[in-house]
Amino acid sequence: MNYLIYCSTALIISLGLFYIYAKYKLSYWSRRGVKTPPTHLLFGNFKDCFILKKPPGGVMREIYNNADPDDPYIGFYIFHKPMLLLRDHDLIKQVMITDFEIFPNRRFGSKNQRDSIGLDSILSIKQPRWKYLRSKLSPFLTGQKLKNMLPLIEECNQHMLRFIENLSINKSSQNNCEMKDFSSRYVSDVIASIAFGINTNSFDEKMNAFWKNGIKIFQGIKRTIMFIIIFFIPEWCPLIEPFIKEPVKYFREIFWDSMNIREKMGYKKGDLIDCMLMLKNEKQNPSYRFEGDNLVAQLSSFYIAGFEAVSTAIAFTLYHLACHPEHQVTLYDEIQIHLSEKKLTVDLINKMSFLDCVIFESLRLHPPLPIVDRTAVRDYKLPGTGLIIEKDNSIYVSINAINQDPKYFFNPYDFIPSRTEIENKKFYESLVFGIGPRSCIGQRLALLIIKVALITILSNYTLCYETDKKINLNDAIHVFTYAADGLYVQFKKRHNARE
Ligand code: HEM
Repeated sequence: MNYLIYCSTALIISLGLFYIYAKYKLSYWSRRGVKTPPTHLLFGNFKDCFILKKPPGGVMREIYNNADPDDPYIGFYIFHKPMLLLRDHDLIKQVMITDFEIFPNRRFGSKNQRDSIGLDSILSIKQPRWKYLRSKLSPFLTGQKLKNMLPLIEECNQHMLRFIENLSINKSSQNNCEMKDFSSRYVSDVIASIAFGINTNSFDEKMNAFWKNGIKIFQGIKRTIMFIIIFFIPEWCPLIEPFIKEPVKYFREIFWDSMNIREKMGYKKGDLIDCMLMLKNEKQNPSYRFEGDNLVAQLSSFYIAGFEAVSTAIAFTLYHLACHPEHQVTLYDEIQIHLSEKKLTVDLINKMSFLDCVIFESLRLHPPLPIVDRTAVRDYKLPGTGLIIEKDNSIYVSINAINQDPKYFFNPYDFIPSRTEIENKKFYESLVFGIGPRSCIGQRLALLIIKVALITILSNYTLCYETDKKINLNDAIHVFTYAADGLYVQFKKRHNARE
């Protein structure tokens, strides 16, 4: 009996102490005069994400919308840790571009970066090692290097076109095809070729080991939880290290197979394996040595950052085009004008301005990665506000929410490719590739892959859409943007198709 009384008293005291502690922690922003949405005592403002009810992008959007329209920021908590969500374009530019020195790092990844493939890559590496690594990798993703990759990307078109050709027709003579699955297979083939130096056919069940191993990284509840931890509770990363490493074995093997063959035979293909060989054979800098898993890490991080983002971008763009035949016609005409009978080149692709508009408008509405963040390396006074962001605290930007804010975009929910001309806006204002020195390193490569896919498909097919269903973004729990019920489109062969 005494024991029971003892236990209940201890429990009541512990709960009381926790309550006082939590209340104090969760008053961080109110003590500084910063608004927050209603907050949960344990989870802070991320409860719906942690119980897997809503995707993080959706939770962040709700936090954004909880502020008044002209508020430059709103505070929130992940568990009891205070975070600041920036809502004002000028403030975002100030922090991420002008004051980059104070905000050079992401929260993403663990603090103790021991696992070189999973967490000590360019995605999560901290300054000053980041700057060195970025300066070594950037030249591989621009200019002539991209031109060399174009034929490798084009080689993958054949499998994709054959797949569309063979799509089975259903009873109502339609060939409904789910765009995310379709684009994932295409992008998997492209990345296998340009990054890992191997030819695959992800559309063929017998030849798609690369694709199957790749989607293991992103799919399933275990991987979703893992990504949520890496992005939003990186302090817990040591707990999930074995799961992070799980899919690495396959990619490490094919990476070294390609490297060894290339080195032995001494030929070049114009892909990223050539670049990794260059890095391996250069004089090494002790702050980051290009050897062993550090080499595998570069291509794995390109894969992780690029695969989902590019395939999501292609899927949503095709879907939007299917819903808007009028824009499809304009785009087809533009492709015809620039390409008739000519070989596809990067210079020709760069002349297609409406193609750019279509892609960026689709990315604005459905940014593949809806959230970016930065952490302060020292105390920082937010200009024009007097608010201090303390060392080690983080700021977030909700790309999907800000891109659909009527303050920044007229008729924000509508697909209007020409809006960049009407509104005199630069593409980067839609923030889809991040902003500042740490923005996406693969932007030009990504756009090239997306453009080649769209040009190839539109030159041969028209896209149709016959079910009038709203895109459901809220029921797919993932850090990337997903349509829970899929994105279905039909292909109709053009009579004057260009193979
Ligand atoms: C449509 C496709 C893509 C989108 C929308 C996208 C978007 C983004 C975003 C939002 C960031 C974070 C930027 C920031 O924190 O400011 C990022 C970073 C990054 N992306 Fe992409 N990305 C795409 C394709 C690619 C591709 C194809 C690659 C492969 C090379 C890639 C590699 C990276 C890397 C390595 C980073 C980290 C850069 C650093 O920390 O220095 N991305 N991307």
